[in-house]
Parts: sequence; C-alpha cells; structure tokens
Amino acid sequence: MPDFLDTKKRLPNLGIGLGLRRELASQTLESRGRIDWLELVPENYMGLGGACRERLESAREKFPLVTHGINLSIGSTDDLNSEYLSKLKKLLDFVDAPWFSDHLCFTSCDGIYMHDLLPVPRSREAIDLIAEKVKRIQGTIERPFLLENISYYMNVPGCEMNDSQFLAQVVEKADCGLLLDVNNVYVNSLNHHFDPFQYLDQIPLERTVQIHVAGHKQGCEHVIDTHGAPVVEPVFELLQYVLERIDANGVMLERDQNFPEFEEILSEVDRIREISAAASELKAQGKAPKSASAIKQLERKQPTVSRKELAEVKHARVLSA
Ligand SMILES: [Fe+2]
Repeated sequence: MPDFLDTKKRLPNLGIGLGLRRELASQTLESRGRIDWLELVPENYMGLGGACRERLESAREKFPLVTHGINLSIGSTDDLNSEYLSKLKKLLDFVDAPWFSDHLCFTSCDGIYMHDLLPVPRSREAIDLIAEKVKRIQGTIERPFLLENISYYMNVPGCEMNDSQFLAQVVEKADCGLLLDVNNVYVNSLNHHFDPFQYLDQIPLERTVQIHVAGHKQGCEHVIDTHGAPVVEPVFELLQYVLERIDANGVMLERDQNFPEFEEILSEVDRIREISAAASELKAQGKAPKSASAIKQLERKQPTVSRKELAEVKHARVLSA
C-alpha cells in the first residue's frame, strides 16, 4: 500500500468548510456553528502583519485551518523557490494545518510570476519532474501535501496522455494526496467534451483528502471557472458520486467574487453537508454507491457571464483572499 494512503487514515475529518475571503471574513468568523473549518490562500498571509495578521489569528482561534497555495508553480521548469517554501512552512506551523495544497499547474517561468494557473504539458517528463518536486516539498514542509486538478481552456502542445491519466500518474508517482475540485472536472468536461463521471472513475479517488465545490459561468467560447456564481446541480451530483465511493477528510465551498448575501453562501455549505451526510449514511448501511446514470440529471443549463466579469476572473482569487 502506498505510504500516502496510510497517512490519509491518520488525518482528521474536518467536516464542511469555506474559503476565507477578506470580503466575507467578519461573517465567516462568526459562523462557527454552520462552518467547520476554513481554507486560506497562504500568499495573502505569509510574513504580513496588520489586518491580515489579525484576521489570521482570529481564524486560528476559531477554526481548524488548511492552506491552498497559488505560487508553488510545481509544473514549472524553474526550480522550487526555497524562500517561498520557508515562508509557507512558517505559516503552516503557525496554524498547525493538518495538510496543505496547491495546483497541478505552473504559475511562473524564469522566475516571473504570471498570476494565472497554467496547464502543464501532459508528458512523462513532466510527471517525473513534478513527482520529484513533491517529494522535496513534503520533505521540507513535513506535512501531507495535496495537488488539485485545475480547470484549463486549451490543451498544451506536447501532451502524451489525457488529463485523467496525467493526474493519476502524477499523484501516484509522487505518492501525495488529491484535492479534487468537482467543479473543475465539470467545467473541463464541458469545454473538452468528456464524461465527468468516467473521468472520476479513471483517477485514484481513494487519494482524495479534500474536495472543492464551486460555481462557474458560460463565457463567450468556454465555460469559465469563476467561483462567482451559485453551484449548479451537476456539480453537486459529481460530489455525491465521489462521496458515495470514498471518504474525504474535508469538503468545502469556494466563493471568490460576485458575493451574494452571506446566508446564500451558508445555504450552499448546508447543501454540501446534506450530500455528505447522505453519502456517509449510505456507506454506513453497506449499500452500493449509485451509478452515474442514477445520479445525473440530463439538463445542462449554464448561467452566463459578461465580458467585464470574464476580465475580472483572472486575479479574483488573489485579490479577494
Ligand atoms: Fe478549486
């Protein structure tokens, strides 16, 4: 058995969480009864004082915390940034995070950060490079590490395999955990024309420690992973499909912009909790997980996004955290 699966068994079950965002911070920090844990973007707290530090300390007092980074740039040909890793380790030690995560992508090249999550050429060379980096990261940080499947809008030239094969081989060779974003799976399935349930069948779901649930919108040419709209039913269906098959240690809602009334956000957190509880009950009763056809609804209506909103998507996660 791979080592990471043993590690996963020892991780706590955090329950249902929310991404900590500056605009929602005061309401979020007062909602311990409805939210079990928080995820924060480490780049917005590393080495900072003032209001950021106060928010961090308040969150640490009230909630279990994990981090979800942007600038690890694990898929870059650049070497790992040791200064970044050192600051990240300090933050993770401060909040005593049970695990931490970043994206299976690159965000920098030749030391220049592009503030976007860019897809890696899906090659055997990239798998070797990323797996070696993951081992060094885990050795430095000394906490369990997860990689998230990103949403992508083009296939990079040089791909030797499809996205599910690449994701599976990276996390298995690296022996790390998976942060499964079911909205990203759904958005990619629409943009790249594949069956999202089949995709889930092709990746090592048992490595999933954390799950992201989010909203998206229909852009001019692509469906865009905005984190700025309500979660649609097909995404909840993918969540149900996963949770009926494996145990995750934490499921959370990502909402980064176009914020509604906070109660609307809490109601989505409640919905995730209901799906999670129903899946746990099914497993406790020893019943078989439902098939994709039993779960999915055929209607696939997308909300629409304006050109102005599209332009704002790129930096929203960094700016709003
Ligand atoms: Fe995500």
